[in-house]
Amino acid sequence: STLPSSKQFAQKDGFRFFMEKEIYEQSNVVSDCMLGRLQDEEILFEELDSSILNGIKEINICACGTSYHAGLTASYLFERHSKIRCNVVIASEFRYKEPLLNKNSLFIVISQSGETADTLEALKMAKNAGLKTLVICNVDNSSMTRLADNTILTRAGIEKGVASTKAFSTQTVVLWMLSLYFAKQNDKISQEVLQKELHALREVPKSLIVSDKMHEKTRRLSKRYLHGHGFFFIGRDVFFPLALEGALKLKEISYLHAEGYPAGEMKHGPIALADPELFTIALMPENLLYDKIKSNVEELSARDSTICTISPLEFELSDDFIKTQEASHYMLEFFEMLVVLQLLSMEISIRLGNDVDMPRNLAKSVTVE
Ligand code: G6P
Repeated sequence: STLPSSKQFAQKDGFRFFMEKEIYEQSNVVSDCMLGRLQDEEILFEELDSSILNGIKEINICACGTSYHAGLTASYLFERHSKIRCNVVIASEFRYKEPLLNKNSLFIVISQSGETADTLEALKMAKNAGLKTLVICNVDNSSMTRLADNTILTRAGIEKGVASTKAFSTQTVVLWMLSLYFAKQNDKISQEVLQKELHALREVPKSLIVSDKMHEKTRRLSKRYLHGHGFFFIGRDVFFPLALEGALKLKEISYLHAEGYPAGEMKHGPIALADPELFTIALMPENLLYDKIKSNVEELSARDSTICTISPLEFELSDDFIKTQEASHYMLEFFEMLVVLQLLSMEISIRLGNDVDMPRNLAKSVTVE
């Protein structure tokens, strides 16, 4: 490819770790990812077969790890914008559940590497069953791009850190754009809403810029947070998969116990764990269900959990507060919060003396079952 910031040989460029460099790169690679696809008045995916939606009644998504979180995020966007029912399944589960494969469903796999064994096998199963397939992938000419009927490349450039960062942000941008592309094709979106979404998409690179202030804040918090006995990351709607991703990052590189949870589900069990040693990281976007998540956080605070809120709005009950920018769209808040979560886990990992880029027991690409 001839894209501007996809370098052939990855160097750390003065950053301490590849992961840090890749977090900082996100703003640029996301611009590359939107190039030619985000037009003035519409979304264009020239690489897609123009009849891709013919006869399609539902979407099935399959992936592993961080890519699975992008898929979960997408399921909200596909139903919201494209009005197509969307199911998301972890690839290793999909393989053995004797899944029902309907010809009227579009099968989407998401993979940074294009080589993950379980995801590849799921793709093969869908192909053999005669489904239309699409892979969202960062590596051209990988096993998955060779197999799928359609490919959308995420153009994130080489990702070296085992903990995925820029692959996720580009996957999410692609899926958001795709939800609008499908919405338009199926005539399910008004011009007014579409324009609002396109406007927000144009702002994504800005929301992914790492400010010194934000980085410094996460560095300071990491001092105390490395002593946490357990972490709950909570959010609603697309901020639930984002919470899962925040928890996964912390587990992967800090080896601390963390869980992502839908905020409204805490009362059905996990809140029993609440005490001051339990750190709750609450994602509180201003533009999506603010009052709902607020009351969930109030419940946790009443039970003495230590609470860190990530939000543009100050919240009186929080012990720590990471202020994000006010934004015109919840997805812009999503991307800024993503950066906060990535930095926080990285700073904790650094302070613990861990190998940020090559965490113990993990591999960048899992090509065996
Ligand atoms: C491994 C990596 C994760 C990644 C997952 C899926 O577990 O450590 O960072 O999310 O595989 O990889 P893929 O290449 O299919 O996105």
